[in-house]
Amino acid sequence: MRVTYPAWFGPYPGSDENDAMTSVLGIDIGGTGIKGAPVDTRSGQLLADRHRILTPHPSTPDAVTEVVAELAKFFDWTGPTGATFPAVVKNGVARTAANVDPAWIGTDAAAMFSKVIGGEVTVVNDADAAGVAEMTFGVGKDRAGLVIMITLGTGIGSALFMDGVLVPNTELGHLKMGKHDAEHLAADSVRETHDLSWKDWAARVQEYLVMVEGLFSPDLFVIGGGVSKKSEKFFPHLGQVQTEVVAAQLLNEAGIVGAALAHIQRAGVPHTD
Ligand code: BGC
Repeated sequence: MRVTYPAWFGPYPGSDENDAMTSVLGIDIGGTGIKGAPVDTRSGQLLADRHRILTPHPSTPDAVTEVVAELAKFFDWTGPTGATFPAVVKNGVARTAANVDPAWIGTDAAAMFSKVIGGEVTVVNDADAAGVAEMTFGVGKDRAGLVIMITLGTGIGSALFMDGVLVPNTELGHLKMGKHDAEHLAADSVRETHDLSWKDWAARVQEYLVMVEGLFSPDLFVIGGGVSKKSEKFFPHLGQVQTEVVAAQLLNEAGIVGAALAHIQRAGVPHTD
């Protein structure tokens, strides 16, 4: 099964058209760290150890772009690049900013990054990128039907795939649980900030997953984000979820690999003239 961004995003990695362009710099922009590495998009392997720089605060467009430039420089990179961004991203432009500086809203991230790197840059939502990586090289490989990846981190991200095709920017972390955004109750950052026990936090995650299950009837949940490394601490408390729940496999690398894949798939309109 091919895992794709919607057909209008362009050709699949490894197709003849892309033979010359299999190495792509993947950059994963998160609330705490910005990390990157060149990726072989055919195998999903990193071509060098990843490099991580702390996310500047405030995380304004200029400050983040400076870090992106620094990362590219670290790898001596001026070529094709894919980057994740923790917000709704359409055609390279950030449309929301739940966990980043509000100045991002309406900013053409792809154009800004492309200017400092030199090559073409594609920018996509962080959970969508992680999902594409998991569906291509990780735990979702060859899984048909409706697969929903939920990333539990600073916020809650989501990526929804029907038979391997992504429906981008689903933003299921902002579904309401009572009066609150789900991510304000069940993100991993909430567990840390409020020092919740694994059991108490898992009860919130369970309530959230049961809600998403009620709305979408998925065939599989993939749980991503750094905390998926510790799935044994909270998966045992998710008994009320009827859908199969599995932990992501690519862990720290999913965003980097997914960003690179997104670029190959030409997510959105090219941003360099
Ligand atoms: C944002 C999403 C993002 C998620 C995870 C949410 O607050 O709205 O776009 O995917 O956090 O970073």
